[in-house]
Amino acid sequence: MGAEPLAADRSAVEPAPMTPRPHRVLRVRRETPGVVTLALAPLLGDPEPGAPGQFNMVGAFGVGEAAISVSGVGPDGAILHTVRDVGAVTHALARAPRGSLLGVRGPYGRGWDLAGSLGGDVVVVAGGLGLAPLRPLIRALSLRRNGFGRISVLVGARSPEQLLFLAETSRWRARGLHVDVTVDQAAVGWSGRVGLVTRLIDGAVLHPSATTGFVCGPEVMMRFTARALMSAGVEPSRIQLSMERNMRCGVGLCGHCQLGPFFVCRDGPVFGHEVVGPLMEVREL
Ligand SMILES: Cc1cc2nc3c(=O)[nH]c(=O)nc-3n(C[C@H](O)[C@H](O)[C@H](O)COP(=O)(O)OP(=O)(O)OC[C@H]3O[C@@H](n4cnc5c(N)ncnc54)[C@H](O)[C@@H]3O)c2cc1C
Ligand code: FES
Repeated sequence: MGAEPLAADRSAVEPAPMTPRPHRVLRVRRETPGVVTLALAPLLGDPEPGAPGQFNMVGAFGVGEAAISVSGVGPDGAILHTVRDVGAVTHALARAPRGSLLGVRGPYGRGWDLAGSLGGDVVVVAGGLGLAPLRPLIRALSLRRNGFGRISVLVGARSPEQLLFLAETSRWRARGLHVDVTVDQAAVGWSGRVGLVTRLIDGAVLHPSATTGFVCGPEVMMRFTARALMSAGVEPSRIQLSMERNMRCGVGLCGHCQLGPFFVCRDGPVFGHEVVGPLMEVREL
């Protein structure tokens, strides 16, 4: 009798979830000093961009893997990853030439939750490279512009030369988003705002009880941003933060990314402030 070993048949064609799939580097774009955006396409099958806020484990063969957020989708469907060269793996990724192969597994984790913010105002706050995982969210917001009240995008960077995706900010404005950009330290030729991104929050929160905040950046920036949003009247449960921890497996098996009772890879990286806020106040956690 012809028993149907469906599971076995499927595993023959579907890669195991932990197995990196080879991706070709289609394009490399230099964004700022030490930061590049890689456009990656799988050798087999269709690209999987995932939901805004999710991340992939991106690997340089023979070097290792790093968690990298999806920063967008190219016009050809390629998945964009914006990488800052900080260590061995990200150095190899940032130097990967066009045409080379990288390993990608994912998308993993829980991204931004847009559903609860429909109909209300939205404040997106990005610090430095934190704009990369927020970019797919900003795109989703601008595509559904009529579904929200005021959409404010507040961007901060240490210096003008470290500002990411500057050309896109004018496109976001053209689509009806309010965009404010600031730098910690000005430079010759900079005529924009100077000061921490948290200073922009009071002017951006108009209807606090109906405002959702989406925040990504260095942890100290997220802590102060969450405080500023709450002082402006935004509910902690309406503040979403994307947390960063050292990742290994990316799927909740190894424990490297533990944050209190959570695994950032599996339960995050995006958490509500009511959940993660108290943990952020604990040193060394
Ligand atoms: C959910 C998630 C999403 C992420 N998304 C991105 C992304 O889109 N783009 C990106 O470039 N990185 C991203 N990261 C961070 C990235 O995974 C780490 O920077 C990476 O592990 C570094 O690996 P490495 O081997 O190159 O450096 P390591 O050898 O691990 O680190 C080298 C040195 O750099 C320091 N360092 C490590 N990470 C950072 C950092 N983020 N900023 C400054 N110094 C650091 C370390 O303390 C160490 O001193 C993300 C991390 C998480 C958890
Ligand atoms: S990275 Fe292994 S449990 Fe999160």
